[in-house]
Amino acid sequence: MAFLPPWTGVLVYFFCVSLAGSDFSDLYPPLWLKSPGQFSDYRVENGKYIIDPWVYSERMGMYKILVNKTASYFENFVPDNEQNILWGLPLQNGWQFRTGRLADPRRRKDCGYESGDLLCISVDSWWADMNYFLCALPFLAAVDSGIMGISSDEVMLLPPPKDQTNFCLNVSSCQSSFPEIMSKWNAFYQHLQYPSSSFEDLLKYLWAAHASTLENAGKIFEDRLEYYSKPEADFGKNWCVAVEYLAASLFPTTLIITHEFQRGLPPRMLVNGDRAPFISDFTDFQNTVLLVLSFLPRLDNSSGLLSLTGWKFLMKTQEARKEVLELFEIILEIFNPKFRYIPNV
Ligand SMILES: *[C@@H]1O[C@H](CO)[C@@H](O)[C@H](O)[C@H]1NC(C)=O
Ligand SMILES: *[C@@H]1O[C@H](CO)[C@@H](O)[C@H](O)[C@H]1NC(C)=O
Ligand SMILES: *[C@@H]1O[C@H](CO)[C@@H](O)[C@H](O)[C@H]1NC(C)=O
Repeated sequence: MAFLPPWTGVLVYFFCVSLAGSDFSDLYPPLWLKSPGQFSDYRVENGKYIIDPWVYSERMGMYKILVNKTASYFENFVPDNEQNILWGLPLQNGWQFRTGRLADPRRRKDCGYESGDLLCISVDSWWADMNYFLCALPFLAAVDSGIMGISSDEVMLLPPPKDQTNFCLNVSSCQSSFPEIMSKWNAFYQHLQYPSSSFEDLLKYLWAAHASTLENAGKIFEDRLEYYSKPEADFGKNWCVAVEYLAASLFPTTLIITHEFQRGLPPRMLVNGDRAPFISDFTDFQNTVLLVLSFLPRLDNSSGLLSLTGWKFLMKTQEARKEVLELFEIILEIFNPKFRYIPNV
């Protein structure tokens, strides 16, 4: 890796010191250690690994294999694969699980609830469906690109109990149904394997694939948002806009940075009456993030430099991206003093 923003090193260094000898496992998503970590942990039928992505631990296992198989491309002075920018995906899935967002939003079944089948992922959940596209497609594209160590026809995902035509289940069907998304993920894995790719190059390809995935999946599952309270549905929509802003700034989705950023996300589903920044069981950080998100669609509509178009234009220069990352750092520092900035000496 040719280039790492210097402040990343500083954050990591400080975090290591504050952990004083412990490891990164506190930062892992729920049930990470118990999820499958290699293909042989899954069932085999007719020479294919069979994975049920509608069971939380099996979906998380796909990420675990992906993060493991890409680790060697992110080797650095930091141990434990911390710099792998694919950490953003499993961490977001873990946050969705922890906050009840993968459960049946209409509560017609026990899917995803402690009183029923906690590990069940509901096909009626907007979050779960959007996440499917951010799990199955990056995973299958990685298989296709050869870095997972199995061939393209050796793995099959199980369909959900309904609406099966919305979901592709293997490399060939994903390629024919979603060629544009698959080719963007393939481009990311290709650049991952080039020794000349910089950390920023990889973020560029990762975010291009991520944004294309959300844009396509967003259209398919728009109607699912009707199952939610207005504040939660608005949050979901605003989140998609926020991701575009993060994408343009090439936000580095490594383990520690994603984990710190996630402290600002709602710790439960939003209900009617929740209004940031006045939600009493949320932290200041969570209230602030929610408030900022609620402004984004209005900002995006404006004609100024902070509209998404203006923002994308601004973020074309490395200097501007650096400024934004430093701003992120200051925000993290305000809400978590552990991240106090240490100047490079
Ligand atoms: C990847 O998984 C293998 C087998 O489970 C394990 O031995 C190895 O340490 C893992 N590598 C990383 C970087 O996590
Ligand atoms: C891929 O899945 C489709 C159904 O979605 C199936 O018809 C096809 O045979 C599968 N291909 C492989 C190589 O398993
Ligand atoms: C953005 O602008 C469009 C068209 O001018 C309008 O219909 C929409 O309600 C606006 N959205 C927000 C969030 O202001």
